[in-house]
Amino acid sequence: MASRCSRAWIRVSGLLLGLACPSRGAVAQQLGPIPGPGRDTVPEPKNPYAGDATAIREGRRLFNWYNCSGCHGDHAGGGMGPSLRDTTWVYGATAARIYHSIAEGRTKGMPSWGTKLPADQIWKLVAYIQSLRTPKEPDKP
Ligand code: HEC
Repeated sequence: MASRCSRAWIRVSGLLLGLACPSRGAVAQQLGPIPGPGRDTVPEPKNPYAGDATAIREGRRLFNWYNCSGCHGDHAGGGMGPSLRDTTWVYGATAARIYHSIAEGRTKGMPSWGTKLPADQIWKLVAYIQSLRTPKEPDKP
């Protein structure tokens, strides 16, 4: 049986591309179910420093060093930026959400730090923030 498909040519940003007609087998493969777990079941990354007392103290030092305290207040009690000590979170309280807030910044005035700080320092800041109001909080107010 003669194929009804002929080679198609398309122009993509100045490049001429030839699209060969795929065989029936290839089409079936492309349209098959996407392997692997669905997006909803991908676990959030965990903080490698969660609960680590040394890392939490280091996070406390970084919090002042990078002047997070300048906007969020000493001991993160709030200032021009929101309190990080209270139980209210605009963008989520999990380690991964807090990491994201710091690395990417947030629209209403939170700068992004992802290009300035290495990931391990951001995780230490997260560990410190999550220690607030707990017995593990260093240098309590
Ligand atoms: C220039 C002032 C400023 C500095 C400096 C700053 N922040 Fe923020 N931050 C904000 C503001 C304002 C918000 C609220 C943003 C919003 O609601 O969109 C915020 C939001 C956040 C949030 C999300 C809070 C929530 O309720 O979900 C976290 C976490 C955070 N900051 C951590 C930090 C850390 C850690 C540092 C230091 C590395 C830092 N911030 C430095 C102003 C600042």
